[in-house]
Amino acid sequence: MEGSEAETTVPGIDVSKPHPARMYDYYLGGKNHFAADRETAERGLASWRAGRVAARENRAFLGRAVRFLVAEAGIRQFLDIGTGLPTTNNVHEVAQDLAPSTRIVYADNDPLVLAHARALLTSSPEGRTAYIHADLRDPEALLSNPAVREVLDFGKPIALMLVAVLHFVPDDVKPARIMATLIDALPPGSYLVASHITGEHDPVGPETGARAYRAAGLPAQLRDADQFAQLAFAGLDLVPPGVTLVSEWRPQGSGPRPTPAEVSWYGGVARIPG
Ligand SMILES: C[S@@+](CC[C@H](N)C(=O)[O-])C[C@H]1O[C@@H](n2cnc3c(N)ncnc32)[C@H](O)[C@@H]1O
Repeated sequence: MEGSEAETTVPGIDVSKPHPARMYDYYLGGKNHFAADRETAERGLASWRAGRVAARENRAFLGRAVRFLVAEAGIRQFLDIGTGLPTTNNVHEVAQDLAPSTRIVYADNDPLVLAHARALLTSSPEGRTAYIHADLRDPEALLSNPAVREVLDFGKPIALMLVAVLHFVPDDVKPARIMATLIDALPPGSYLVASHITGEHDPVGPETGARAYRAAGLPAQLRDADQFAQLAFAGLDLVPPGVTLVSEWRPQGSGPRPTPAEVSWYGGVARIPG
């Protein structure tokens, strides 16, 4: 951490290796990252100069998607896997601002996110929030965590958030099986929000960035729009406008938006049919 507080006070956190949550925090201009994160992030940014713009666009998409789900789809429960470090527009802040009774379970596999979880647990009095340390690659363990079952009612619709996390699940980990397990656990009328980095609009920058992650021992795989849609949304009812660049998903305001190459990040929202 820039002030190196976590280095000395939080056990179980290896700061010698980069981690996606801390690198993303660095792109977003946060303060929860270490030298190893900054070095790997800078290697990626050297080839994908718009990486920071892309991260901000992804974060803005997340906020718009949560707002849509609460205000227009009536969703009051969220399971947010790959939460990231607390930053602006955390899911519970956006959701409970619109509907204070909303319940949120956050899950991430970075012990530093766990160390900051208290900041994610400041629920409105009417709602609930919980944080679990869990891995997307073991969906059965995640779904059977007592906090998940206690906070979320699986008899009512739940929004599953997989925002900027599926590109850390390469094909050799069998992500389709993971998706099927998660979707099967949700009742009809639930929703999925997902986003994913792509090399389709800039064949060099994002892939060079992904290579920097892999060289640092972090799994990373780009997918094109069809591969992403097939992995995340097969059999679900996509909400208009479907799978688009995150910057083009129900954008607000009329100001200029970054180019497709700068964004290089797809997103979509879909409903689980009844
Ligand atoms: C790029 S951040 C995205 C944060 C937030 N969802 C957003 O889009 O603004 C990716 C997050 O996924 C987490 N992550 C990566 N692989 C994971 C896994 N296998 N299981 C759980 N979390 C994971 C990282 O620790 C990090 O916090």
